[in-house]
Amino acid sequence: MKKLINDRSTVFIDQLFNLLKIPSISADPHYKNEVKKTANWIKNALIDIGCSTAKIYETPGHPVVYGEINVSKNAPTVLVYGHYDVQPPDPIDLWENPPFEPIIKKTALHPNGAIFARGACDDKGQMFMHLKAVELLNSSNQLQNNIKFVIEGEEEVGSDHLETFLKDHKAMLQSDVIIISDTGINSIENPAITTGLRGLSYMEVTLTGPNRDLHSGLYGGTVANPINILCDMIAKLHDNNRKVNIPGFYDDLEEISDQERHQMNENGIDEKRFKEAIGIDALMGEEGYTTLDRRSIRPTLDVNGIWGGYTGAGAKTVIPSQAHAKISMRLVPHQDWTKISQLFEKHFKSIAPEGVSVEVTTHHGGAPYVTPTDSLAYKAAEKAYHEVFGVVPHAKRDGGSIPIVPMFEDVLETKTLLMGFGYDSDAIHAPNEHYGVDNFLLGIETIAHFHRHFSKLSAQE
Ligand code: BES
Ligand code: MN
Ligand code: MN
Repeated sequence: MKKLINDRSTVFIDQLFNLLKIPSISADPHYKNEVKKTANWIKNALIDIGCSTAKIYETPGHPVVYGEINVSKNAPTVLVYGHYDVQPPDPIDLWENPPFEPIIKKTALHPNGAIFARGACDDKGQMFMHLKAVELLNSSNQLQNNIKFVIEGEEEVGSDHLETFLKDHKAMLQSDVIIISDTGINSIENPAITTGLRGLSYMEVTLTGPNRDLHSGLYGGTVANPINILCDMIAKLHDNNRKVNIPGFYDDLEEISDQERHQMNENGIDEKRFKEAIGIDALMGEEGYTTLDRRSIRPTLDVNGIWGGYTGAGAKTVIPSQAHAKISMRLVPHQDWTKISQLFEKHFKSIAPEGVSVEVTTHHGGAPYVTPTDSLAYKAAEKAYHEVFGVVPHAKRDGGSIPIVPMFEDVLETKTLLMGFGYDSDAIHAPNEHYGVDNFLLGIETIAHFHRHFSKLSAQE
């Protein structure tokens, strides 16, 4: 079984290149057709690997691609989830190579090369590993799980229509476990299985002061400047220890014992590497917590964008009528994103001075999630990583969010296993996104071994 992949690796990379060439940018309506083309490409790829069913389900947004391979009524069923949509490539000028013309280049962390393209790691490259792992098993008569594929096109814009899809096809989507590769590992030497995702609450605020822009000489010093006030209010959202300063924000947090925290930190973040990779000389975060804690078990609040007034060339003396910001909060168990959004709105309005009015809107959100580590699937994955990487993988909670995962649990009542192979430094959502060739190939092997162990362990139950 080992090295099933063998001489297939160049073919697989070629195929992935073709997938990466289609700009499936879900956020930008101009790319609707490209997104559709990508869905078709996936559907054909599912047929190629032996799916007896491969179908496109239209939604009010972008389509969901569904595929099935059935080996036996008595075999366990594994549902694979992934997304074929990608983030916009902007800022485009900062790409060393065009984002939709994949190319392999060596980097310090990927001495055997990495595939550079938008979506290489998030999530086309990682999702495609699952198709290829199943293909390897299926074509050599070693597939002993029934497989269901749900590959969606709206993950990067909040998976708005996937919940309805799950509800409408509950029976079709029944499985013993859901597996996803859309998270990360620290290194090939020290791989991890992801056991947690943070939740998200995404807000937008608008402050309105005077009913029009004002001459900053005639009016400066006499009225509330919405941008000045917005900065004031944003500054008040953290206290001196960099804790989030919203009443009730921490009320529902899961208790994590010192012992548990200590255990989590045994595989902590290499701060030197972490800083070097992003070109900073110091880290910053909530007092009393490690870098690992801060981006896994602690909630956060960040401004994602802020605008208003004059931002063109040169100078224009003006007091703007309005100021805007987009603010996201990463959440941890057991924070409820709708409750947090309400707390934010109430608090933010309460700290506004007279002379400005505040409007707060909630964009998307999602619940945090923690996966079990005592399940058959987790054990099967542990064995698979051990075989392929030569070490027992550790468990790690990631900082990012995949809002559909808690929905799988709510709607389908099925647990998820997160087996991602990207690095933090792979620049997902940023210019020059890439995915290690080794990560891609080892990922395929690991997933294939996972299937083998999962069917074996299930048979022993
Ligand atoms: N794959 C990421 C999430 C991720 C990355 C989790 C790395 C853990 C480690 C996913 O595509 C993503 O970007 N999610 C968004 C949320 C969504 C609602 C836009 C995020 O985390 O910002
Ligand atoms: Mn993703
Ligand atoms: Mn993403």
